[in-house]
Amino acid sequence: MSSPEGWGAPLYEVVLRGIPEGSTVLDVGCGPGVFAAFAESCGMRVTGLDSSRAALAQAEKTAPTARFVLGDAHQLEGAYDLVALVQVLAHVTNPVKVLQEAARVGGRVRATVWGREEESDIRLFGEALEPFLPPRSQRRTPAGPPPLTEPDRFRKVAGLAGLEVLALDEVRSPFAYPDEDALVGPLLQSDLGRFAANRAGPAAVREAVLATFAPRRVGAGYRLENLFRVMDAVPARAR
Ligand SMILES: C[S@@+](CC[C@H](N)C(=O)[O-])C[C@H]1O[C@@H](n2cnc3c(N)ncnc32)[C@H](O)[C@@H]1O
Repeated sequence: MSSPEGWGAPLYEVVLRGIPEGSTVLDVGCGPGVFAAFAESCGMRVTGLDSSRAALAQAEKTAPTARFVLGDAHQLEGAYDLVALVQVLAHVTNPVKVLQEAARVGGRVRATVWGREEESDIRLFGEALEPFLPPRSQRRTPAGPPPLTEPDRFRKVAGLAGLEVLALDEVRSPFAYPDEDALVGPLLQSDLGRFAANRAGPAAVREAVLATFAPRRVGAGYRLENLFRVMDAVPARAR
């Protein structure tokens, strides 16, 4: 699966809603710097942090006016008007600790997560590849609590981290692919896509993907409707 360029704007707008120009923003898990560039264009003073040197090198090109640092989301430094966690919590070892750190260094915290699986078309990538994967009984299924895509769980984790949740908004941010290649190409480069293609051949995988996505076809391209949730929170001590 790959996210098409420009998909994040509706989500980023909600993350920055009401934050005054000139505010300092720590973009935790900044990745290739797309949100950082957006925030700079809105007049924010952005520091991007990521544990991946490769991501930071890309981010410096995407958002040349922002500052970027190598670091761990579980151990933050400094003080910021806003700590933004855009699509990061599903990737860290300990989301409670990361949110605790965000609450410690941020006057405000905004964090985004995917909606539940059934709420987003992105699940169709998994459905398309399913016939090519080993039986579910042979796959490693992660143990542990329900994911943060469950709104109640997300609120609970934020509370455990010492945050007071002001709002948990739903945001629709569609993925638009201009043509078949844009939809299928990056999928075939992913770990699961390569696995499937090695098993069944790229042509069979392509055919299955296009059949699964046929109901999402719009003209020559495809449009996927996706739901995200954005948490707006403040450190409980600040209230
Ligand atoms: C899905 S990407 C999101 C990137 C970016 N926020 C965006 O929305 O495009 C997750 C990012 O979190 C980073 N990451 C994962 N664990 C981290 C950690 N413990 N500390 C800092 N960054 C981390 C990864 O390197 C990756 O760039």
